[in-house]
Amino acid sequence: MATNEAVRWFMMIGFLVVSISRSCAYGKPEVPCFFIFGDSLLDNGNNNFLPTLRVNYLPYGIDYPTGPTGRFCNGRTPVDVLAELLGFENHIPPFATTFGLATLRGLNYASGTSGIRAETGSQLGVNVNFDRQIQNHKSAVLRIASILRSKESAMKYLNECLYYVGMGNNDYLNNYLQPRFFNTSRIYTLEQYAAVLVRQYSSQIMTLYKYGARKFALVGVQDIANTTYAFNQNLVSLVEKLNADLGDARFIYVNSSSVTRSTSAGFKDYDTSCCPVNRLGLCAIFQIPCQNRSEHALWDSFHPTEAANIVSARRTYNSSDPSDTYPMDISHLVNLSLES
Ligand SMILES: *[C@@H]1O[C@H](CO)[C@@H](O)[C@H](O)[C@H]1NC(C)=O
Ligand SMILES: *[C@@H]1O[C@H](CO)[C@@H](O)[C@H](O)[C@H]1NC(C)=O
Ligand SMILES: *[C@@H]1O[C@H](CO)[C@@H](O)[C@H](O)[C@H]1NC(C)=O
Ligand SMILES: *[C@@H]1O[C@H](CO)[C@@H](O)[C@H](O)[C@H]1NC(C)=O
Ligand SMILES: *[C@@H]1O[C@H](CO)[C@@H](O)[C@H](O)[C@H]1NC(C)=O
Ligand SMILES: *[C@@H]1O[C@H](CO)[C@@H](O)[C@H](O)[C@H]1NC(C)=O
Repeated sequence: MATNEAVRWFMMIGFLVVSISRSCAYGKPEVPCFFIFGDSLLDNGNNNFLPTLRVNYLPYGIDYPTGPTGRFCNGRTPVDVLAELLGFENHIPPFATTFGLATLRGLNYASGTSGIRAETGSQLGVNVNFDRQIQNHKSAVLRIASILRSKESAMKYLNECLYYVGMGNNDYLNNYLQPRFFNTSRIYTLEQYAAVLVRQYSSQIMTLYKYGARKFALVGVQDIANTTYAFNQNLVSLVEKLNADLGDARFIYVNSSSVTRSTSAGFKDYDTSCCPVNRLGLCAIFQIPCQNRSEHALWDSFHPTEAANIVSARRTYNSSDPSDTYPMDISHLVNLSLES
């Protein structure tokens, strides 16, 4: 018994020494943890285990340090770049392959083809839709409560974290705009559909609030031939409403179109994909992509290049332009002290 106790103390001290030396080498991140919910724009490997769209093959990952990972990009996604800007030592790992203590830094639950609605993307296989991403988060919250030995300390810890949610693109691309598979476009006008989606989204966000989330960045959907205009308008209104209703939480709107559409970012090419694509608009397997990826905003038919992701992440983190982030940027959001 005594030996066991000694071994346990020894291991504990070893762990503390490692943690302290790490935090000295890398500095403390601006938030203790960073949780990510979303679709293929943010997926970093969760779909690799599912019978659906997966991109763990070259040329995906050609510019990522460990090659193909499941990221729908040549290199880093916006949340990878944000993790760096926030001072994290590593990119936030995927839920599907992360266990134990690593959970404390945050997890990425994002899944390509997924949406706010459960059926979204189902014509392409099985994804992790937003409701299931939230269930996965619930299991992570329980894990954190068990590591920190109480629900109260877990809640206190989780209150300080950043929650980044980018959902809704596939509710258009892989639902409303696919009338062969889905009937939403026969049931709703675009205005009605946007209202229905944002109502469901609002209650999903409130579930995350219940699990201790207080600092939210909600990302608007990409401009898809102006079909998503009403969604983004409703999302801005939701951000205003939640900020007014919940004194102990803060929400910001992140404008996802402001970079890839604005020529001020300085790319040579905004419209053509950098890699040869297959019939789904994803890079065809093992095909050679364009030489200089920094000149292109688009990687495949839908997803930005790392170069474009760097520009948008920087403008999400620090921008004085209210059409990039509203009503504040992430550097200010994470710096707020919210009373609870
Ligand atoms: C729309 O399709 C769903 C299944 O995807 C079905 O449950 C529902 O009844 C349909 N609604 C209408 C109005 O056709
Ligand atoms: C997009 O649609 C909205 C109405 O739904 C309209 O007010 C706006 O002018 C449109 N924008 C473009 C660029 O067509
Ligand atoms: C998003 O950015 C674009 C381009 O700067 C701008 O036209 C649009 O109004 C912005 N949308 C919102 C909701 O702020
Ligand atoms: C790639 O393009 C960027 C941006 O136009 C440029 O700064 C860089 O020099 C180019 N790199 C190569 C190897 O040509
Ligand atoms: C934000 O950007 C401005 C210039 O646009 C710069 O002066 C400032 O140092 C930046 N702040 C941070 C925290 O990066
Ligand atoms: C962060 O907040 C503190 C006080 O709450 C303030 O003094 C500091 O200027 C803020 N930093 C930024 C980058 O907003």
